[in-house]
Order: sequence, then C-alpha cells, then structure tokens
Amino acid sequence: MTRTLLLTGPELAADAMALAAAHGIRVLPTTPYAPAAELLATIHTEQPDAIIVRQGQLSAEMINASQRLALVAKHGVGYDTIDIQAAAARGVPVTIAAGANAQSVAEHAFALMFSVARQTAWLDARLRAGHWDKASANGVELFGKTLGLVGLGAIGSILAGLVAPLRMAVKVYDPYLKALPQIPGLERETDFERLLEQCDIISLHCPLTADNRHLFGQAQFARMRPGSILINTARGELIDPHALASALADGQIGGAGLDTFSPEPPEASSPLWGLPNLVGTPHVGANTQEARDRVGLLAVQQALDVWAGKALDPRVVVNRHLFSA
Ligand SMILES: NC(=O)c1ccc[n+]([C@@H]2O[C@H](COP(=O)([O-])OP(=O)(O)OC[C@H]3O[C@@H](n4cnc5c(N)ncnc54)[C@H](O)[C@@H]3O)[C@@H](O)[C@H]2O)c1
Repeated sequence: MTRTLLLTGPELAADAMALAAAHGIRVLPTTPYAPAAELLATIHTEQPDAIIVRQGQLSAEMINASQRLALVAKHGVGYDTIDIQAAAARGVPVTIAAGANAQSVAEHAFALMFSVARQTAWLDARLRAGHWDKASANGVELFGKTLGLVGLGAIGSILAGLVAPLRMAVKVYDPYLKALPQIPGLERETDFERLLEQCDIISLHCPLTADNRHLFGQAQFARMRPGSILINTARGELIDPHALASALADGQIGGAGLDTFSPEPPEASSPLWGLPNLVGTPHVGANTQEARDRVGLLAVQQALDVWAGKALDPRVVVNRHLFSA
C-alpha cells in the first residue's frame, strides 16, 4: 500500500526525501504558508497517512479531514500551532524532533546577542547607505555579564555552554527543571522578578503555553536593568510587541534580538522597525543544513515507525498525556 505523507510547506532536506522515496512513500509538499482553506482542501482530497507540520496552523478540522491519519510530526520542536487535543481525541500521536535543531537555534541566539550588543545589523544597513559611523558607534562587551535563561531544555543548555568562554554568570529560570546540569557558572533563580532585575541579557528558551503569553510586558520591561538586552528565539507571543517597542524607544532596555514574532510575518507597520537597537531575523533559528537534515530524517523515521506498528519514544509524543487510557 502506498502511504501519503503531506508536508505543510516545501520539500524536506535531500536525505529525508531519499528515505521517503526508498520506502515508496508519496510525499506531497504544499506552497509555503498555504492558506488554511487550501490546506484543508488538500487534506480532504489526498487523505494523508501522516502530516509533517512545517508552516502554519494544523487545526482540529484539518486533523479530522483525513480518515487515514496515523501521525502528526512537527518539523522542529515548537508545537503550539498544532491542535494536539484534537489529534489525541482521534488517537493520533503528535511528535516533535526533540533536540534535533537545538545546536542551530542556540548558535542563532548567541549570534543575536553579539549583533545587538554591537549593533552590527544597524551599522551594516548604515554602511550600505553611505554612512561611516566610526565616531558615533558605541557597543557593549558580553564578557563577564549576567545572562538569564528562561527555560533550560535542549536549546538553553547548549547556549549555557556556548557562553562559557565569556565568563558570564548564567541564571536559570525554569520552574519545571528537575536538576541543574553540571555547567560552570550556572545558578538557579526561582523568582522571575529577581531574574529580570539581575540580568544584563535575558534569552527565552521556553515553549509558548496557555500560561505564558506576554510573559514580557510593560511591567517586566520596567523591572529589567537599564541597557539590558532581550533575545527571543522561542515564540513571538511570549512578548507584548507594543510594550517592547516602547521599552526600546524610551531606552528602558538597551536592545532586543528577535527571531520570532507575533504574528509571523510581522506587520510592516510594526513600531519595531524604526528602532536602531532591534535586530530581527525571520524565524530562521533552525534554518541550517545540519538541522534540516536531522529534523527531516527524524520526522520521516517517526512516520515509518508508526506505520510499522513500532512504539514511539514517549518523550517525543507531546500529546501522550491527553490520550484516554
Ligand atoms: N527559532 C526557531 O527556529 C526555533 C526552533 C526550535 C525551537 N524553538 C522554540 O524554542 C523553544 C525551546 O526549545 P527546546 O528544544 O529547548 O525545548 P525543550 O523542551 O528541550 O526545553 C524547554 C524548556 O523550557 C522549560 N519551560 C517550560 N515552560 C516554562 C516557563 N513557563 N518558564 C520557564 N521555563 C519553562 C521546560 O521545563 C524545558 O526545560 C521551543 O518550545 C520552541 O518554541 C524555536
């Protein structure tokens, strides 16, 4: 029987496409960020056996549109765009590619820290426009500063290791963490308000949940150190964008590096765009060849395993707690 694997977005990396082809799987990519109506119609028509979610939302209606659906695999780890409850109600596991893109995202967060601290994006744009800002440009060093990590999972842990040569003090706020890993300079902070007050740089590495939308708003920016930097490679909804724009414009905080936005893509009229102390990238933290190879292979392998009746690693099934006994 030929299985159909629908991708919400473009083709997977070459190795993953080759693995699918070797198993005779019919792989159907969609147009990038396909509109919901188009995606729903495709699922109705094609009746996929598995869906790999790359872009956009996967709603309950979409999940219920294929009678043959046996797996929803996230091409990455952030699964807030998938109705995991609706999938569980159908007995469909939702999996993530745990850890497979963590190195790439951690390196991107690291790069954003440097870029904000030295205004490289702004200076690059100015240079291309014919300005030579040597006399006026003034950055800050990261060496010896205090870094706050909100979430110490796969990505946060790698970033904590990456900053070690900079002799930074690293404070971790992660209420769900069982034990602090053995990384030099790491210290736990259980009080979120204190974390805000004590750090020079704060980098977000937690999932978006029902409880932490706009974790950073006006009150939190008011508590942060003057001149401090906020990095977000996690999810845009963790930050109130209007409060952030005001905090940056008023100099309440020193700068921000954002890879994720709310909505995505962000509006052209967003107050963020005129700010020289903001560095933005279009949700590309995991866009490296290495991460794409690992994530694509893992997602296809998860589909093959489910179809073969093999048990999935329970740690990657994010809706397992919603399955009825
Ligand atoms: N920019 C990108 O391209 C990109 C790529 C991958 C992941 N991400 C985002 O990064 C997030 C983290 O990824 P990961 O692989 O490190 O996930 P992970 O599951 O390994 O780690 C997440 C950590 O956050 C902690 N946590 C949960 N809720 C929290 C809260 N309210 N406050 C503080 N900590 C909390 C968890 O205990 C866990 O330790 C993902 O959820 C995703 O949204 C973005």
